[in-house]
Amino acid sequence: MSNSNGNVAVVAVLGAGTMGSGIAQVFAAAGAAVRLYDVDLARVEKARDGVKAGLAKVVAKGKLTAEAAEKIVAAIAPATSIAEASRGAELVIEAAPEDMALKISLFREAMAHAPKEAILGTNTSSLSITELGSRLGAGARTIGLHFFNPPPVMELLEIVRGVATADETVERARAIARAIGKTSILVNDVPGFATSRLGVILGAEAMRMLETGVASAADIDRGMELGYRHPMGPLKLTDLVGLDVRLAILEHLQKEIGEQFRPPPILRRLVRAGHLGKKTGRGFYEWTAEGPKEIR
Ligand code: CAA
Repeated sequence: MSNSNGNVAVVAVLGAGTMGSGIAQVFAAAGAAVRLYDVDLARVEKARDGVKAGLAKVVAKGKLTAEAAEKIVAAIAPATSIAEASRGAELVIEAAPEDMALKISLFREAMAHAPKEAILGTNTSSLSITELGSRLGAGARTIGLHFFNPPPVMELLEIVRGVATADETVERARAIARAIGKTSILVNDVPGFATSRLGVILGAEAMRMLETGVASAADIDRGMELGYRHPMGPLKLTDLVGLDVRLAILEHLQKEIGEQFRPPPILRRLVRAGHLGKKTGRGFYEWTAEGPKEIR
């Protein structure tokens, strides 16, 4: 059991993509033993290398000691199976692609090995927590723990309460947020929660503007960065989050809420081409070691 101050001794993170590896880092930095699982074990090694490289930059800035960085990386243990990841875990967090059937199968496997009271936290950006909990037969301990990219840097944890989520689970999630240094907001389970709904609509509108020739990607982004003080414009941000991730959210919200979320054709085209943003080196920008470069 996690204790009342929210510290969690053992966490299973299922999915070692951008979000899973960042979430693993957050818990490792807070002192938890993290078991990181991915269907592709090579991705787990890549994730640990990514954490190491990210922390090296923080060390270089003098904000963390090399020993502390090493300890964080060492606290992230690769797991070769969901069973291995979940045994003894007080918290199981999945950060797999936005596919309800996939998330259900990951949690079912985890539930067969994790303690009966383990919290089942999903990092989904838009899928229904209520449906997930109900289909798992574990609504009371299923909750949305929505992190933001990059998880080690972004301050927010959006906690999403399903219809059947127990008050105790919400309280534990709030305490966990505090223990990992995040500020939480509590949101009811509606499609897109509070943040994705607003975030993707801005991104989609920017894409529609780009494809109808309103301005270049760099100028649309600069407009929001300098005119609205967004740290990053909506197209650059889509590259950071992943075009495939944004497309899945838009498709879901179009179905659940309405036509304002229809994915722009340019997004589908880029995803079909495998241009998924920063993680593949190209999206609305070309991503080099120096950062995003405008595509002309
Ligand atoms: N581990 C720990 N700390 C790290 C780190 C790492 N891997 N990488 C960077 N940091 C720290 C740095 O040391 C730095 O700390 P200080 O401020 O104390 O110096 C801080 O984080 C900022 O890092 P940088 O200076 O390298 O970066 P930056 O100032 O250029 O900002 C950014 C980069 C944080 C990504 C910023 O551009 C930003 O906030 N962009 C918007 C991000 C955003 O909106 N994310 C949400 C996306 S939506 C989402 O994720 C939800 C969804 O469901 C899809």
